[in-house]
Formats: sequence, C-alpha cells, structure tokens
Amino acid sequence: GKTIVVTGASSGIGADTARLLRSHGAKVIGMDRNDPLLTLDGFVKADLSQQSAIDAAVRQLPAQIDGLCTVAGVPGTSPADLVGRVNYLGTRHLCELLVERMPQGGSIVNVSSILGYFYRDRLDTHKSLAAVQGFEAGLAWLARNPVPQKGCYEYFKEALIVWSTLRSSEFFMKRGVRMNCVAPGPVFTPILGEFVAQLGEERVAADAHRITRPGLADEIAPAIAFLCSDDARWISGVNLAADGGFAATYL
Ligand code: NAI
Repeated sequence: GKTIVVTGASSGIGADTARLLRSHGAKVIGMDRNDPLLTLDGFVKADLSQQSAIDAAVRQLPAQIDGLCTVAGVPGTSPADLVGRVNYLGTRHLCELLVERMPQGGSIVNVSSILGYFYRDRLDTHKSLAAVQGFEAGLAWLARNPVPQKGCYEYFKEALIVWSTLRSSEFFMKRGVRMNCVAPGPVFTPILGEFVAQLGEERVAADAHRITRPGLADEIAPAIAFLCSDDARWISGVNLAADGGFAATYL
C-alpha cells in the first residue's frame, strides 16, 4: 500500500480523510499539533507554524512518501501571522520537503477554501509571493507586504491556490508528482464556529442557506482521496470545489 501523510489528521476534514485513505488500504501517517482521536499507522506531533518543527517532523518520516494531504489550517480569528504560517508558508514548506521523497506518480492535495476561490483580484500579488522561495524568505516578504487581519484567511487561501497551481507544473514535469487543491465550502467541523466569529452569524447562515446546509467532513474527504489516488493520474494543478454548488451560486 501507499504511505500517505495527512496534516490536520486529529480533527474534522483531516480525520475523515485519514480514515477514508486507510479504508482504501493506505498507510496513513498523521501530523498535527494535537494527538489523534483515531487509529493511524503513524503519527508525528508537530506545530506546523514553525519551520524548525516542520523540518524535525519530516526527519521522523519514512524515506519514501507516496502522498501528502495538507489539511491542517487555522481560521481567520487567529492572528494573521499565524494564519500565514500554518495555512500558507508551513503548508508550502512541507510540500517542498516531501516532494523530494516522492516517486513518480506521487500526489499532493492541499486543502484550500471556497473563500480563496476569488484570487484573480490579487493575482499579481499572489504570484509575487509564490515566487519567493522558502519559509523565512516568505516571512520577510510578508513583513514588507503586511496582510491586514481582516481578510487574512481569504488572502492566504488564495495564495495557497496560486502557489499550488504555479508550482504544480514544475512538480509534474520534473518529477511526475501531481499537486492539486480541494476547496471546501462551509463544513460542519470545530472550525465552523470560528467562521461565525470571523464573518458573523448572519453571513455564515446566509452562505449555508445558498446550498441548503453546510457540508460534512466525510463529504470533503472523498474529493481529497480521489485527487490523491492513481485514478486522478492525469489531473494536476486544479482547485476542485467540494462545496455543494456554493461557488456556482456566485456567478
Ligand atoms: P478543524 O479545526 O476541525 O481541523 C484543523 C486541524 O488542523 C486540527 O486538528 C488542528 O489541530 C490542526 N492544526 C491547526 N493548526 C496547526 C498547527 N499549527 N500545527 C499542527 N496542526 C495544526 O478544521 P477543519 O474544518 O477540518 O479544517 C480543515 C481544513 O479545511 C483547514 O485548512 C480549513 O481552513 C479548511 N476549510 C474548512 C472549512 C469549514 O467550513 N470547516 C471550509 C473551507 C476550508
């Protein structure tokens, strides 16, 4: 079976992704700041907001990794610096480290968000940030181009989509490793309460109403598992919405 690393495996979408991948026969190694609630084949406790912690965590992983699903994320109620570190710089750094351990046919899936879907308004900015390589250099760029607290979640999810799209072609051409994103709409997980705090109860209720209800974590996990699998071997560089048609209601 394949060895797949899942970040954020200790809650919500990451936990369901880990469970589903295991049911498909993969060996799943979780990575999270909190201990896992379910049985995994391996687990590395790590604070994915710190480059040194990510580097140390990667040193504990097997030499070959077939898949990486980066699901860990923090909501926009967290300080913008932390949102940038976990949702973007740390995620990106982990991808760069693990792609080195992947054989041809390896696959990376990054969990973005429907809130990052509208990146085109700031495409040039996101491209500039994507061109800055490395965690520390990324922090330095962000110090020169500070991201306001309000909207920081959207900003870094947009940035993740743009980086993933741009970088995917290099990963695919040079190494035969695919990289894609999955963009969930509102989903019932512990984070949803934070979105209420971030966006207001009315907005979240109105958003859920557009699609009749928020989604469930086990309605997102299959999209992640599919893009991670060999069935998706000719799919790279996409941002797949798993949102109950949420994005479609905005056209
Ligand atoms: P969750 O809060 O249930 O799970 C997030 C996981 O990430 C937790 O296990 C947490 O411990 C881990 N994590 C956070 N910061 C970390 C750090 N510094 N180091 C290590 N682990 C860390 O949330 P959920 O809903 O499962 O979110 C998963 C992903 O889906 C996130 O990237 C989130 O932004 C994204 N998302 C969620 C939506 C929702 O409505 N629930 C909507 C769109 C995107």
